[in-house]
Amino acid sequence: IHENYQKISKWTANYIANKINAFNPTPEKPFVLGLPTGSSPVGTYNELIELVKQGSLSFKNVVTFNMDEYVGIPESHPQSYHHFMDKNLFNHIDIPRENINILNGNAPDLEKECEEYEQKIKSVGGIHLFLGGIGPDGHIAFNEPGSSLKSKTRIKSLTYDTILANSRFFDNDINKVPKTALTVGVDTVMQAKEVIIIVNGYNKARALQKVVEEGVNHMWTVSVLQMHPKGIIVCDDDATMEL
Ligand code: GLP
Repeated sequence: IHENYQKISKWTANYIANKINAFNPTPEKPFVLGLPTGSSPVGTYNELIELVKQGSLSFKNVVTFNMDEYVGIPESHPQSYHHFMDKNLFNHIDIPRENINILNGNAPDLEKECEEYEQKIKSVGGIHLFLGGIGPDGHIAFNEPGSSLKSKTRIKSLTYDTILANSRFFDNDINKVPKTALTVGVDTVMQAKEVIIIVNGYNKARALQKVVEEGVNHMWTVSVLQMHPKGIIVCDDDATMEL
């Protein structure tokens, strides 16, 4: 628990940087990092960019896998997760383009796209560290309430709550928000060697309480983190108000 968002962001970025540096990645043995979108990780991304600029961190030998992507909006759409990642992280760091993996929400065969994504994660030896955020309903990636805790990468219909929450990025018009997305599964995240979840702000306080103080439950999908041998929740004071 940290005092505020800025402190969470600094702590998380330093934690990730230390992990990458200690791993000493090479082209043959890259560090594999899972990444989220949303407002929660933006501060961490800014701090990571700073570390790269200062020369104390490099993404040259880091391979990334993003959590999710909307179905049916072009990659160039300002709200696509491809665009978000370029704008908030990839355009400002030294990562080779071929090291970046993001689900293609416009693939002709979406099921095949999801299967191949899982295969690709396997082929690089799995994810070393998965960074994530949560929705106000305790979902991780787009694993909405009711998702199987053993789920893998797949197509998911978004719940009304998520569509409503994300409409702030689509001119506050729920009709403009995509209704489906591709997402890594709960188990895809759980298979990572380490998971860090950022939870900030009072609007996440109820979710945090459900996720850490109640039982493991598929209605609050991040609660599964209780079963992870190395699951870390980094939160600010506001998010702890219901604990
Ligand atoms: C979306 C994303 C999640 C993210 C959540 C919360 O649903 N798919 O990965 O955690 O939004 O976003 P924010 O961090 O903006 O609150």
